[in-house]
This record gives sequence, C-alpha cells and structure tokens, in this order.
Amino acid sequence: MIKKGIILAGGKGTRMSPLTKAVNKQLLPIYDKPLIFYPLSILMLAKIKDILIVVNKGQLEQYKKILPDGKNLGIKINFIEQLRPRGLPDAFVLGEKFIGKSNVALILGDNFFYGQNLTSKLLNNVKLNRGAKIVLHKVQKPELYGVAKINKNNRILTIKEKPKKFLSDLAITGLYFFDNKVVEFSKKLKPSKRGEVEIVDLLNIYKSKKQLSADLIGRGGAWLDTGSIEDYYKTSSFVSAIENRQGFKIACIEEIALNNKWIKKKEIKNSIRFYGLCEYSNYLKKLI
Ligand code: TTP
Repeated sequence: MIKKGIILAGGKGTRMSPLTKAVNKQLLPIYDKPLIFYPLSILMLAKIKDILIVVNKGQLEQYKKILPDGKNLGIKINFIEQLRPRGLPDAFVLGEKFIGKSNVALILGDNFFYGQNLTSKLLNNVKLNRGAKIVLHKVQKPELYGVAKINKNNRILTIKEKPKKFLSDLAITGLYFFDNKVVEFSKKLKPSKRGEVEIVDLLNIYKSKKQLSADLIGRGGAWLDTGSIEDYYKTSSFVSAIENRQGFKIACIEEIALNNKWIKKKEIKNSIRFYGLCEYSNYLKKLI
C-alpha cells in the first residue's frame, strides 16, 4: 500500500521561457488555479496524505505562499529544495528520509490527468506492494515521449526514451508507483549524456527483475503534458471548457479533501479566508 507521494515541481522550464524566468512553471495558472494543484489533486484522489514537493533552490518561499503546510487540506506537505534539475530519479535520493521504509508514488509537477474511472484506477495502483508500475497513454507522436511496448497481459516488453523508429504509441506518463527499493536503485544511477539521471534507466532496473507493470488510461481519459506553451494553453482551455460546462471544478484540492473526509466545514472556511474574495472562494462557499 502506498501512502506517500512526491511531486517534482522544480525543473528548468526552458520550453516556456520567458514565462518561467521569474516564476516556476508549476506556479503559473492553468485556467483558474496554479498548475501545482493538478498533480497534488491526483495524489489526494489516490488517498495519499503524506506529500513531499521538490522545488528549485530559492523557490521554497514562493511555494509556501500558496501551499503552506497542508493543514487546511488535512494532509501533510513537506518541501525540499533541489540544487539543480538532476533528473527525475533524483526525487528518490532527495526524498530518502521522507520515504523511509515506505513505498512511494511520484508525479511530475506539470502533468495533468482527467477522466472517468481515474480515481478507481489510482486506488488500485496504490495497492502496489512490490516492484514498480507506470501509467501509459496512447499518443499521436510517440517519438516525443518515453514509450513502452507491452504484451496482452500489460507486461512491459521494451521501454525507450524518444524512439526514432516506431516502437509503440503508448507514452509513459509522469505518474509512477514504486516499492521501497527505488531509493537504493536511484542512488546507483549514473547521469546520461545530457547530464541527468534518467527515469528510463530506473524503470529498466525493475524491468530486468521482471517487476515492472503498466496501467493504461483508456480513451475516456485525458493525459496532457503542460511543458510546452502550446500544450500549456491547450490544457487551460480544456479545464475552462469542462468547468464552465459542468459547474464542477477540476483539481479543487479542498473539495477532494472534504470528499475524503479529511477536513470539515471549519477548514473550508479557513481556506476561503486564505484565498480572499474570488471566484475560487465562491465555489468553496457552495461546498458548505
Ligand atoms: P522536464 O520535462 O524536464 O521539464 P522542465 O520543467 O525542466 O522544462 P524544460 O524541459 O522545458 O526545460 O521535467 C518534468 C517535470 O519535472 C517538470 O515539472 C519539472 C520537474 N523536474 C524537477 O523538479 N527536477 C528535475 O530534476 C527534473 C529533470 C524535472
């Protein structure tokens, strides 16, 4: 059972410069809330209450302004600074103390998931006891992503970063579930040519031990990577279209906490005071 989760919310944000020169990508808005709310909401839907957010050196205070400690959400939010973007598996080296003897989930700070059955899929994935699990989603341009070829039992045959020759159209999304061995394995990784430790290398260790499996988000689900300007605005429009049509918010973290029975009216009222007079607060008022 996985009860701890890490959000990687540092990074260079090169593709979104100059937007990301002064502000970290995860603090920029996706429609009506900061991007960081979306990956956080995914961990909360997975009933994960103990969360570590990895941020760039020097950006801790900015993050704490929007996510002080998790108290109003009934969860615990810890922060750690990363000196420079050393690669995704660095999360488990930085997070060693936080992880302790537990298994752990990792979500990239710029990943957006939405769709039917998502919560039940998440709750199923956090049952992981041993090995590692990745989440795959079909894409049009697999050459832009890490991809996985699987057999009919969802066993992974091959994984490859940005393959030039077609291998599979299943992209590896930024949501992963690992057993406790991930810390030990991550420490052993050597940086690749681009100077980062690579998640594909980490996954290949699990694969070589026949301990890597996959979960698929079907066509009813959406996975969007908000890393480029184009994708970023597409995600924003997607959220705006759904929210304005249905009147429900995507990634309202207080609503999820309330539904999970982690908080009561009092905490929602605190959040309303915290955010001040705004449309988001009006939505919170309607919840109570
Ligand atoms: P990337 O896709 O590498 O994105 P980036 O933010 O560095 O942007 P760019 O590629 O345009 O320079 O990383 C995915 C997410 O993981 C992103 O939200 C940043 C975060 N991240 C870290 O927090 N630490 C790291 O060491 C790396 C590599 C990424």
